[in-house]
Amino acid sequence: MQTTAGEKQATEGFLAQGPARDGRMLVDRDRAAIWWLSLERIGASQWHALAALLSDEERTRAARFHFDRDRRVYTAAHAMCRGLLTWCAGQSPNSWQFTTADHGKPELIATPDIPRLRVNISHTRGLAAVALTVEHDIGIDVEWMERSVEAQKLAQRMFASSERDAVTAASEDSRIETFLGFWTLKEAYVKAIGKGLSQPLDQFSFDLEKASIRFDNAGIDDPARWRFERYRPGPDHLMALAVRHPDPARLAVDCAAAPLDYLCALLK
Ligand SMILES: CC(C)(COP(=O)(O)OP(=O)(O)OC[C@H]1O[C@@H](n2cnc3c(N)ncnc32)[C@H](O)[C@@H]1OP(=O)(O)O)[C@@H](O)C(=O)NCCC(=O)NCCS
Repeated sequence: MQTTAGEKQATEGFLAQGPARDGRMLVDRDRAAIWWLSLERIGASQWHALAALLSDEERTRAARFHFDRDRRVYTAAHAMCRGLLTWCAGQSPNSWQFTTADHGKPELIATPDIPRLRVNISHTRGLAAVALTVEHDIGIDVEWMERSVEAQKLAQRMFASSERDAVTAASEDSRIETFLGFWTLKEAYVKAIGKGLSQPLDQFSFDLEKASIRFDNAGIDDPARWRFERYRPGPDHLMALAVRHPDPARLAVDCAAAPLDYLCALLK
């Protein structure tokens, strides 16, 4: 099942209770939050306010991008990441500090007196997303559907056999969507476990309808410990979330468009 993220009103889930006040956090071990931000929504005057949320190191990285569109989506993603942390846990947006784990996964440096927050970022042409929970491994992936990928060739090279067959069987019109449906789930998973593409993508496979995972070798991981969600944040993008959880059915996932006015006003 795939949810059209725009269908749900941002006032429905636990995220609508924010921003966090009086030390009361919006996320816990049984909650995962997602914000996504379409770059089309960001007006010329708002970029400055978003860039101001970045750390010096993030600003230096942003400045290194050759293409403006890459700099912008990086800026939006990292500003939104800081904003979501502050919305859900209080603290100042520039107080959050990150370290890099093996294989490059950014992890928050623990803040005294609050539970261990786990966060993951994804950006693609025109869209950024960030996912947050407490303690558990979490990964998110967004992809732009207009990208020119050689779906069948990439699937043959990288996917498990059931996924290759599904991509081949898809009609020409739906092939990219089928391919990226699998791709976003697979990337969300390899990002949640922190291995990125050092984890071979053909050792596990997804059922797209159920958004459930299967491992070739039972010793690799336990499917019963994973929760996956699929979203359509707009006509041109697909998004998937992966969270490792001892009882995945207990996890409440709230996904909303990021409140741009809040982000832009954070440092005013
Ligand atoms: C981590 C990886 C899986 C993500 O790559 P991606 O899909 O290009 O990029 P995303 O936007 O989804 O994620 C990038 C973010 O993930 C985070 N990240 C980096 N390494 C990570 C890791 N090992 N695990 C989890 N997250 C990681 C970072 O925050 C990064 O953003 P930043 O550089 O702005 O801080 C990477 O291994 C990779 O190289 N992917 C190849 C992508 C590709 O070939 N795509 C073709 C699609 S058809």
